[in-house]
Amino acid sequence: MAPTYTNSNGQPITPDAFATQRIGQHGPLLLQDFNLIDSLAHFDRERIPERVVHAKGSGAFGVFEVTDDITDVCSAKFLDTIGKKTRIFTRFSTVGGESGSADTARDPRGFATKFYTEEGNLDLVYNNTPVFFIRDPSKFPHFIHTQKRNPETHLKDANMFWDYLTTNPESVHQVMVLFSDRGTPASYREMNGYSGHTYKWSNKNGDWRYVQVHFISDQGVKTLTNEEAGQLAGSNPDHAQEDLFKNIAAGNYPSWTCYIQTMTEQEAKEAEFSVFDLTKVWPHKKYPMRRFGKFTLNENPKNYFSEVEQAAFSPAHTVPYMEPSADPVLQSRLFSYPDTHRHRLGTNYTQIPVNCPVAGRVFAPHIRDGAMCVNGNLGSHPNYLASDKPVEFQQYSIQQDQEVWNGAACPFHWKATDADFKQATDLYNVLARYPNQQKNLAHNVAVHVANADAWVQDKVFDYFTKVAKELGDAIKKETLELSPRK
Ligand code: HEM
Repeated sequence: MAPTYTNSNGQPITPDAFATQRIGQHGPLLLQDFNLIDSLAHFDRERIPERVVHAKGSGAFGVFEVTDDITDVCSAKFLDTIGKKTRIFTRFSTVGGESGSADTARDPRGFATKFYTEEGNLDLVYNNTPVFFIRDPSKFPHFIHTQKRNPETHLKDANMFWDYLTTNPESVHQVMVLFSDRGTPASYREMNGYSGHTYKWSNKNGDWRYVQVHFISDQGVKTLTNEEAGQLAGSNPDHAQEDLFKNIAAGNYPSWTCYIQTMTEQEAKEAEFSVFDLTKVWPHKKYPMRRFGKFTLNENPKNYFSEVEQAAFSPAHTVPYMEPSADPVLQSRLFSYPDTHRHRLGTNYTQIPVNCPVAGRVFAPHIRDGAMCVNGNLGSHPNYLASDKPVEFQQYSIQQDQEVWNGAACPFHWKATDADFKQATDLYNVLARYPNQQKNLAHNVAVHVANADAWVQDKVFDYFTKVAKELGDAIKKETLELSPRK
């Protein structure tokens, strides 16, 4: 039977859906026409703030399955048995563009996954690049502003883009990834995900490890050239959304195999880089990959706004035996995400079904009331830990035997040095193994920096010359051909 058409109060609207109430034949409308006011007033409030970064995205539900035993590394319950399955929701995104921007922009891709585990939600909020532009969290708003629009012209601005990056050269490793063809993935299905940050996972005995996580695409990694990406941005700006939705709808489910790299505290002390520096990768030969699971995306959301736009991921949403490391950027992210969720979605954002831990999990009698409290609010249960209403506490170690820090509060700014160019140079040498990749990198930079002023271009030539002289020379040659100096 067809549903009865109603207003938001459930009152049937009949018989004409589009009829308004007016006085006389050509007279003004009536304030008593709740059906019209209900519809227009709700329409006026339809938009919520888009994400301040990662605004354009696509999502899908799926399932994670444990393939290998890593209980010696991590005692999280969802990992305790080979074959155990956990429902997940993944959202992919670009970073800098607005929610209507093109999917093929040169940008890192967000790769955020929520695991609805029996011990609460675990959010792994990753990117498709193993490193990042900054390691001082105070730089994040500065950095992001330079990748977005100029406050005066409201245009993307090659001067501020490159001025920031070259003045803060710890960015160079990530910039090398971004301006290789990996900066324009062919689709969300055909890219990897990386934790970037170091996390700390532990087991029931109190042993703990530093961990990096890798999600390797079972579809393989495919990229676009700068020109292909530009063409698609014009002909089909929603290319990645369409690709993901249609493949899942057709039963062609994408999947990723999950690995960890681990380090003990002693190994970290001996490493030639800091494990808290997310501009660096851990060499695979020294810290081998160990497989632990696989996840498959097999269910499209039924409603984009409800499930994708309202999804709220945070590195602070974690489960027992998985903790953040002292990486200062990660520490700051623990604050920033729930803070923005309270602004973007409201204080009760965890009650929205896509964000809600699996049924029966939440018993937080002190977290009550607030706007849009729609879950029954624990009924008559006291709103504090009442002595006559005992609650159970689960026993798990908070790893008090981990690193020990001691000292006064002190200023900290992790300034760049020439050593920060080493892994960028290593990456440049690796690109030589793949056809055209060194050439494409130089080209991709040149066509972008050709839009900048000469003084900024000169900074860019020096920046890439420090990676490899031939790279700096190639960028300079093509840039000056595209934007000759007078
Ligand atoms: C200080 C550094 C950073 C800050 C302050 C920051 C802040 C934010 C904020 C405010 C959002 C919007 C969240 C929302 O509205 O739901 C966001 C989204 C996101 N960030 Fe970060 N971010 C930082 C670094 C990173 C890094 C290093 C990564 C990856 C390793 C990352 C991955 C993501 C992803 C994947 C999303 C999109 C989540 C989604 O799909 O809803 N961010 N970030």
